Amino acid sequence: MSTAEATTNSGSVDLLLWVIFPYVCLAVFAVGHFWRYRYDKFGWTTRSSQLYENRLLRLGSPLFHFGILFVFAGHVMGLGVPESWTKKAGVSESMYHATAVGSGSVAGLCTLVGLAILIYRRRTVGPVFSATTKMDKTMYLVLATVIVLGMANTVVANLVGHYDYRLGVSVWFRGILLLNPHPALMAEAPFGFQVHGLAAFLLFALWPFTRLVHVFSAPLGYLTRPYIVYRSRGDSLGSRKPKRGWERVGS
Ligand code: HEM
Repeated sequence: MSTAEATTNSGSVDLLLWVIFPYVCLAVFAVGHFWRYRYDKFGWTTRSSQLYENRLLRLGSPLFHFGILFVFAGHVMGLGVPESWTKKAGVSESMYHATAVGSGSVAGLCTLVGLAILIYRRRTVGPVFSATTKMDKTMYLVLATVIVLGMANTVVANLVGHYDYRLGVSVWFRGILLLNPHPALMAEAPFGFQVHGLAAFLLFALWPFTRLVHVFSAPLGYLTRPYIVYRSRGDSLGSRKPKRGWERVGS
């Protein structure tokens, strides 16, 4: 079936699930971030709980964050780069698939174990649990669902039968971003891939209202900022020009 035929043959449920729902979630994602930045600038934070507990955090946080960085890179490659391009570059489908399943499984497992440690910590360390909001709980639930389903697709679906998601899910995903959606491609995808996609879009819609906003303010400035900020009251102290980052408040 050609893409054009596939698009026309889609029913209204497919249209709702694979076109309207994703666009509504993306709109909430964009407008929500704008709103949060305008009205809750001081709440734009991870709401770190490092002060309450550090041992489990030191283990779970890097596992989760490094894992998710690789998962993200894998998604940019798998969803963003058409299969025809990698084939032209001399990478066969089986070669690509084997690498993606290998590295994706390791990255996904690190992410999953890291997240399990972080959720365990949140539930069992009293002060951390007390600082956990309803929104945090909802976010953790959806995030864990997306990750577990992603892993299931990468590991289980590949053991049982091979679905070339780069000819289905990936084309649909690019179509959404390029304003040229192909709902039928997703309607034909295996169930696990469908639910993973829906849960991921739901996560995008929740994103601006959760602590996940910190992703867009990764603290790169930490590398160059002064390790401690001193403020002096008088303005006649010292004659040297302050170094970058050490300027007096209000100067
Ligand atoms: C609509 C957006 C998304 C789509 C279309 C999508 C699609 C996919 C596909 C096709 C796979 C299977 C890859 C393979 O078999 O090699 C996968 C795996 C996975 N996804 Fe997603 N995904 C999306 C968003 C997300 C998000 C937001 C997260 C996490 C927060 C996530 C986490 C994972 C994980 C952990 C795996 C397994 C490990 C890996 O392959 O990297 N996905 N996803």
